[in-house]
Amino acid sequence: MESTDPIKTQIVDDGPAGIARAAALLREGRLVAFPTETVYGLGGDATSDRAVAAIFEAKRRPSFNPLISHLADAEQAEDLVLFDDRARRVAETLWPGPLTLVLPRRADSPVSLLASAGLDSLAIRVPAHPAARRLLAAVGRPVAAPSANVSGAVSPTTPQHVLDGLSGRVSLVVAGGRCAVGLESTVLDLTGEQPVLLRPGGVTIEELTALLGPIAVPEKDPDRPASPGQLASHYAPRAQVRLNAGAIGPDEVLLTFGPDLRSGPKVMNLSDKGDLAEAAANLFAMLRALDRTGAGTIAVAPIPETGLGAAINDRLRRAAAPRP
Ligand code: TXA
Ligand code: MG
Repeated sequence: MESTDPIKTQIVDDGPAGIARAAALLREGRLVAFPTETVYGLGGDATSDRAVAAIFEAKRRPSFNPLISHLADAEQAEDLVLFDDRARRVAETLWPGPLTLVLPRRADSPVSLLASAGLDSLAIRVPAHPAARRLLAAVGRPVAAPSANVSGAVSPTTPQHVLDGLSGRVSLVVAGGRCAVGLESTVLDLTGEQPVLLRPGGVTIEELTALLGPIAVPEKDPDRPASPGQLASHYAPRAQVRLNAGAIGPDEVLLTFGPDLRSGPKVMNLSDKGDLAEAAANLFAMLRALDRTGAGTIAVAPIPETGLGAAINDRLRRAAAPRP
């Protein structure tokens, strides 16, 4: 299989020729990394068991962790899962965009059982990035895509990040610039009576509450993740991560937020204006850059918990969690 023997990873831009090449490879069952507005995805044909297995293998991901099926439009989603009024309402308002819905899988859903890891539900998303939309339309099938990084590492927001982790393990990378949102999609479970937030992300809980009313946010229990993929340690750089830092120690570099007089090679500011959207877009790239300094620990200044801050802090807490 392609992911065991190193292959030559090609890179194309997101113009018509690159998209056509990427779509053809996906239809052949090969793996293609592509840009979305959240992070780069490692795509494979969601209807092919072999392609889905190759995704798990390339990422070295535990196979109990189910994948999101990406679609060109909401209409296509109705073939895979059962929609209700709530799902239609959020889909109409927030798709295309950084929101994943977990819905009951249709009995005749063409998606590989491996992609949903044996669950009765399926996660689906219609991404907003123009290149992702063109690619999905050209493929004409659902594309399973986790973030295009080795399992447990920091998610990729540039083509170079993808190559750093997966060069030789993916057939093609579609280069489509920096991801505008920079954090993974929000995962909302609509299989039960009350909507449940499985992962905070690019759509805020405030936006969802405005549309749906109260949303359950499960207690964090690291031994029993609500979403199967929500392992406590995740998004981890090589360096240790220390949260809510004030002053920094000798072997530390600083990731700060908002007005801060400290600057220099050991300091990066997620957003000196204190803008959480800008901070989200910078988060993963800055964690990678600070990691490359070789410092023992990345100290992180406090970040507000409101709006996109909830998702930013979720990722930072996972980066700081004890490693297996
Ligand atoms: O922004 C994103 O969502 C990116 C881009 C590429 O679209 N993808 C992404 O995929 O972050 P991944 O595989 O890294 O995260 C998928 C999350 C995991 O936490 C997984 O457990 C959860 O969605 N998930 C998938 N299917 C599920 C299901 N049937 N029930 C509950 N959670 C599910
Ligand atoms: Mg991921």
